[in-house]
Amino acid sequence: MAFDFKVADLSLAEFGRKEIRLAEHEMPGLMATRAEFGSAKPLRGARIMGSLHMTVQTAVLIETLVELGAEVRWVSCNIFSTQDHAAAAVVVGPDGTPDDPRGVPVFAWKGETLEEYWWCTDQALTWPDGEGPNMILDDGGDATMLVHKGAQYEKAGTVPDPATADSEEFRVFLELLHKNFAEDSGKWTRIAARIKGVTEETTTGVHRLYEMDREGTLLFPAINVNDSVTKSKFDNRYGCRHSLVDGINRATDVLIGGKVAVVAGYGDVGKGCADSLRGQGARVIVTEIDPICALQAAMDGYQVTTLDDVVETADIFVTATGNRDVITADHMARMKHQAIVGNIGHFDNEIDMAGLAAIPGVEKIEIKPQVHEWRFPDGHSVIVLSEGRLLNLGNATGHPSFVMSNSFTNQVIAQIELFTKTDEYPTGVHVLPKHLDEKVARLHLDALGVKLTQLTKKQADYIGVDAAGPYKPDHYRY
Ligand code: NAI
Repeated sequence: MAFDFKVADLSLAEFGRKEIRLAEHEMPGLMATRAEFGSAKPLRGARIMGSLHMTVQTAVLIETLVELGAEVRWVSCNIFSTQDHAAAAVVVGPDGTPDDPRGVPVFAWKGETLEEYWWCTDQALTWPDGEGPNMILDDGGDATMLVHKGAQYEKAGTVPDPATADSEEFRVFLELLHKNFAEDSGKWTRIAARIKGVTEETTTGVHRLYEMDREGTLLFPAINVNDSVTKSKFDNRYGCRHSLVDGINRATDVLIGGKVAVVAGYGDVGKGCADSLRGQGARVIVTEIDPICALQAAMDGYQVTTLDDVVETADIFVTATGNRDVITADHMARMKHQAIVGNIGHFDNEIDMAGLAAIPGVEKIEIKPQVHEWRFPDGHSVIVLSEGRLLNLGNATGHPSFVMSNSFTNQVIAQIELFTKTDEYPTGVHVLPKHLDEKVARLHLDALGVKLTQLTKKQADYIGVDAAGPYKPDHYRY
């Protein structure tokens, strides 16, 4: 059956399929979900548009959604994060061949331009039969933003002038909306009206959703998957503990032991990053704006100070804040020769790349894709990873399967919840109930040989819980 898609090279599908097969074994939560719901097909009728890094692990997520009955179209939520063999394998599907692809439409390849990125997102939201999706699965909120801004501008009857955009990213985004508006000035309003809800993967996307909810502009219900305990306390932390040094190693192969590494932000991601660099023998320094997280970092044994204090002496800088302008062009100009600069937060505005490029006389030298030496007029240089975009997906392959199985099992459960119990989730931002969070954890215990202690009835009564859970009140922080 012919269908539309755009990936780098379908001949990579066989390699992708082999890695997907290995990943399935490492993703017990997703496979258990297939076993539990595969025959009931609770997602029959769901038309899910997904915008999430197109990796091998995501391929297992996509094929789980399909097995549960959904129709799916997919894009990556970052221009560098696609694994082309995974994208090819998803398009070809388990039963197809490169000449006869039978899988899922994917619009993603490693190294998209910004124009291509937004084109892909538009394609995945535009179903060929003219009907749009009825569900979004988002990571960072770009797909949700496209639908919301599109509908908002259609209501206003005008799209802002791209020349007024405060970033290149937003300029390209507005260009796309201008084109959409000229072709069909009701497109996004119609798509928004059909969407039952969105399930959001990450801290940054969740911030955007709560902001829209506060402003009263959120158009459909959302489930905040990030704040399932089995997501943010695992993927953000242990995932980054694995994939941060993986990215730095693949990009630079510099010995981390003995170096001074600065981690900006000591939230879930920062905690994993600091741990990971310390594990390699780096002396880690943390910067924070929140006294609680700063105190945590200090008690975990890290020096906590400001970036200004250490910018001239540290060797490796990693931003993990989800905030903007954390490392400025002036900071980079003051760093020592061949200092490594990378971001593991969601968007590239944590590092002022535009400011760096605007320094008179600065020279950008490509060492290899996603690794650039920026040479200053005085001859010294810094090495910037993934052009300031998340380095663990740009320079390496993101988090490993086992931790993503936790995140993605939450995603599948959240999709089932929103699609099948739409009435129980009014427009607003929701988190999954704790018993489902505990269920996700439970699905991953056997694979690690974990034996749980069973509460007796007397003990359960004594601490005031049901012996079958949930075991903690909602305000417990883990
Ligand atoms: P979080 O909110 O737990 O932590 C961020 C921390 O940064 C907070 O403690 C905050 O106080 C601190 N911070 C904010 N501005 C700062 C500044 N100017 N200087 C120093 N510290 C500052 O968020 P989380 O979950 O750790 O996520 C951080 C970012 O990483 C988000 O953008 C999130 O979407 C992204 N993320 C990336 C992943 C990846 O694989 N690359 C995985 C999961 C999340």
